[in-house]
Amino acid sequence: MDRLYNGILVQTTDLRRSFGSGSATVPVLRGIDLAVQAGEMVALYGPSGSGKTTLLNLIGALDRPTAGTISLCGQDILRLGERRRAKLRRQRLGFIFQNYTLMPSYTSAENIDLALRLPGLWVWERRKRIRAALEAVGLSAWANHLPDQLSGGQRQRVAIARALALRPAIILADEPTSGLDTRMARRVLGLFHGIARAQGTAFLIVSHDPMIADFVDTTYDLQEGTLHRRQPPAAPHTTTDNASATDNATTTATTAPAEAVLIPSPSSAT
Ligand SMILES: Nc1ncnc2c1ncn2[C@@H]1O[C@H](COP(=O)(O)OP(=O)(O)O)[C@@H](O)[C@H]1O
Ligand SMILES: [Mg+2]
Repeated sequence: MDRLYNGILVQTTDLRRSFGSGSATVPVLRGIDLAVQAGEMVALYGPSGSGKTTLLNLIGALDRPTAGTISLCGQDILRLGERRRAKLRRQRLGFIFQNYTLMPSYTSAENIDLALRLPGLWVWERRKRIRAALEAVGLSAWANHLPDQLSGGQRQRVAIARALALRPAIILADEPTSGLDTRMARRVLGLFHGIARAQGTAFLIVSHDPMIADFVDTTYDLQEGTLHRRQPPAAPHTTTDNASATDNATTTATTAPAEAVLIPSPSSAT
C-alpha cells in the first residue's frame, strides 16, 4: 500500500518554524528538506535546543509550521482538516515521546491497550500484540505494573512497546535510548532495525546518542536550523560472514524479538 507514494512516507519541503513575534522572533527551523522512505531508518542529531523536538512535532502533525510543506504517506497534512489529520496520525504514526506520556493509573499492558483501542483492534489481537511487544523490549514480567513502579528506563521501554504494537507505517522517536543502558539501547535499536527491514516501517529518530548512527541508513545533523547529511559509512549494513563487530551486534540483537512483534502469526493471517 505504501508503494502508492513511491515509498516516500515523510516529505518536508523548505519547512520553517519560528517562535515569538516581531523583534523577538526566533527562527528555530530555517528550511528543512527531508524525505524518509518506507523501511528507512533515519537518525537526526543536534545539540539541545536545536529544534529536534520541534521538527518531530511538525511531522507528527502536533504543531503547524511557519512556512513550508509536510506530507505523510502522500497526504499534505497542512491541508487536511483536523479530523482527517487525526485519523492519519492514529493510523500511520507511532510516537515515542521524550517524556513517555504513560497514563499513571494504568499498567504497562493497559497503557499499550489504550493505544491499540484507537484503531479498533479486537481484544485477542490486542492481547497478542501487547504480549509480543512487551516481550520484545524485555518487559514481560512487568506487564501488570504501574508506571511509578517502573524505573525511567522501563517506562521508556513501555512507550517503545506501545509504538511498536501499533505497527504504524512511521515511528517518530524522540531520544528513545536516553534512559537505557548500552546493552538495552542496542537491543532496542536492533529491534527497530529488524522491524524496518521486515515490515517496511520507517523510523525517524532524534537523539544525542552516537550509537544510533551505527544502526540507521541515513544520518543528518541539525545545525542552525538546517539539515546536513552525513556521508554514508564505507560499509553499509550487511550480514556477510566477515561483518564488522558492529554489524554482528546489530544482527544478533535483531532476530527473535522483531519477529515476535511483527510477523503476524499464522492464526491471524487466515
Ligand atoms: N512552544 C514554544 N514556544 C517558544 N519557544 C519554543 C517552543 N518550543 C520550542 N521552542 C524553542 O525552540 C528551540 C528548539 O527547541 P526543541 O525543538 O525542543 O529543541 P531540541 O529538541 O533539539 O532540544 C528552543 O530554543 C526552544 O526554547
Ligand atoms: Mg527535544
